[in-house]
Amino acid sequence: MWWQDAVIYQIYPRSFQDSDGDGIGDLRGIERRLDHLAWLGVEALWLSPIYPSPMYDMGYDVADYKGVDPVFGTLDDFDRLVAAARERGLRVLLDLVPCHTSIEHPWFGENPDWYIWRDEPNNWLSAFGGSAWSSLNGHWYLHSFYPEQPDLDWRNPDVIAAMQDVLAFWMDRGAAGYRVDAIDRLLKDPELRDDPPASEAFGLPVSDEEAKLALTNSRNAPDTPAALARIREAVGDGVLIGEVYLPSAKWQPYLEQLDRAFAFELLHAPWEAAGLRRAIEATTSRPGAAWVLSNHDFGRLVTRFGAENARSAALVLLTLPGPAFLYQGDEIGLADGPGGEHVYDRAGRDRFRHPMQWDPSPTGGFTTGEAWLPLVDPQSTNVEAQRDDPRSTLSLVRDLVTLRKLLGDGLELLDAAQGVLAYRRGDHTVAVNTTAEDRPAPTGGHVVLETRPGALRGRTLGAHSGVITMGL
Ligand code: NOJ
Repeated sequence: MWWQDAVIYQIYPRSFQDSDGDGIGDLRGIERRLDHLAWLGVEALWLSPIYPSPMYDMGYDVADYKGVDPVFGTLDDFDRLVAAARERGLRVLLDLVPCHTSIEHPWFGENPDWYIWRDEPNNWLSAFGGSAWSSLNGHWYLHSFYPEQPDLDWRNPDVIAAMQDVLAFWMDRGAAGYRVDAIDRLLKDPELRDDPPASEAFGLPVSDEEAKLALTNSRNAPDTPAALARIREAVGDGVLIGEVYLPSAKWQPYLEQLDRAFAFELLHAPWEAAGLRRAIEATTSRPGAAWVLSNHDFGRLVTRFGAENARSAALVLLTLPGPAFLYQGDEIGLADGPGGEHVYDRAGRDRFRHPMQWDPSPTGGFTTGEAWLPLVDPQSTNVEAQRDDPRSTLSLVRDLVTLRKLLGDGLELLDAAQGVLAYRRGDHTVAVNTTAEDRPAPTGGHVVLETRPGALRGRTLGAHSGVITMGL
């Protein structure tokens, strides 16, 4: 399987490259920058939603599953992009948003029975806070996310048929598969019963309000695999990576049909060796992890783990066995930004979505116009300056993308000094010191890669440093 150990680069289309000067990234812009991805050595790119949308949730509120939003381009542009990617040996993954549409999707008006209604709200909560129910014409519709995103009823065969048609449409146009959005919300309790009070922790971060509930009826219904089988049927052997927001112990029903699930336990682990080890141990006790440490919802490596640890975070992300998702900008150590004057995302995620920085100019080479969100710091962090600097974050990430192909199969977690995460991949040992002091390294051996020069001195691993060695 091509994706088995692939690096899949997440493109946030709005913020990658603008080609027409309107300050918003687009498909032609992505096409122009494909050489960057080929140079980096990744196998595929995943496009966050490109479909027509009123953008209440920046495209995760789809108004037409078989089109391209004019702000991003046209279907022809998509076809050109797939062809240009293919020429460079790159595959294109799309974002499938099956659980909800936009409130502006014609289906909502024309086929209300494709959605989930109730005469009174129950106690289910929206992921963005407050009730998951809003009223319309005296009835209440379910929205697991924003009120502008009504949930589809996947027990309605017409919904399944319509979605299968959508899935086949993009596969026929050359998509290699999908990242599948919020898939733990696909099916809920058919009787729409209240979520009972929580008796144990959910296992991943949730809001304070959600933490009081068991969250067992509002998601993750037992008949989910049957619905996923219909998705699989339409996608054939295309890859399906699930955004399953559940601890890995609950992945199994999803992995009956999906190829991989995002390992959120690791994404949420604090940058501390013991916690990282626990998350890796839990997630790798069964096959199925796709690794991700940053994205458009949770922010970037530099901000999440600290600038001093971002390179080590990239090292971990790219040396675990299984597909790894690299969020655009992390390869140059881009930090989260402040957001802009205008708030686009009411849940506060604008700051994770600032434009890519290609060069040191004020607009970072991203646009010739005014960027929809301001650039963060193109003068100090950009692709152009880092490309030919062997000590740059970009060079490190590129080296890691190359090197990971040489790592052996399997993963053996090693005992190491307190504050040091260490594991073996065949002949190679990966060690990361998560502390601010020098620590004994688990092995010596020949240094194959280090996150900064002199990270490993004899048997001492420097503060906030990581290393890959070979031999003992
Ligand atoms: C997960 C997506 O990554 C996020 O951006 C979106 O808001 C929700 N799913 C709802 O579609």
